[in-house]
Amino acid sequence: MSLKTEAVLATTADQPVVANMFQLYVHDFSEFWFDQARGELGSDGLHELPDNLGSYWTDADRAALLLKHDGHLVGFALLNGHAHSGQPVDWNMGEFFIVRKHRRAGVGTAAANEVFARYPGRWETAVARRNLGALAFWRRLAASHGEVEALDLHTPDWNGPVLRFTVMPKAPRSS
Ligand SMILES: CC(C)(COP(=O)(O)OP(=O)(O)OC[C@H]1O[C@@H](n2cnc3c(N)ncnc32)[C@H](O)[C@@H]1OP(=O)(O)O)[C@@H](O)C(=O)NCCC(=O)NCCS
Repeated sequence: MSLKTEAVLATTADQPVVANMFQLYVHDFSEFWFDQARGELGSDGLHELPDNLGSYWTDADRAALLLKHDGHLVGFALLNGHAHSGQPVDWNMGEFFIVRKHRRAGVGTAAANEVFARYPGRWETAVARRNLGALAFWRRLAASHGEVEALDLHTPDWNGPVLRFTVMPKAPRSS
């Protein structure tokens, strides 16, 4: 029997939960920042979190989701409407995270597809140039939805690959 993977809207009460997981997310990314100032721990042993994290709960064109697998919290997805490409988009995967324990087991794919099912339309994912694992992940996932436009941006806004693809709404189940 396959285990259930879910993407559920995060309430404002869940904001500290996402902030906790965001620590793990930034820690993962800090590996790519070995030659940059960012990614250091503060004196409290924590990473600095983005100032705009709260906007995912307040702005109409943003959404925060908790990702669950077999009832366990396994990550988060933060969606916004920012197109790094400058082209029309409905949703951009601002941040997406699966805890290490559950990686390479298809959980990220199932969770992202749960997110896409809730938010069909034109999507973009921008991937940090050094994040080769995530690039492989998004390439495969985007291709499973159809044609993918792959860009390689060198702009002040983004330095790295951007994938554009369309997620069709799920057909309603016939009774
Ligand atoms: C990227 C991430 C979401 C992938 O989650 P996951 O649950 O491990 O993904 P899946 O198991 O569904 O992977 C599906 C496929 O994607 C590709 N893939 C995933 N992670 C990969 C990696 N580290 N290296 C190479 N390919 C990878 C593989 O093709 C994989 O299939 P396989 O395991 O049969 O080879 C997860 O590693 C993560 O949260 N990383 C840290 C945060 C991050 O980089 N987020 C993305 C920001 S753009």
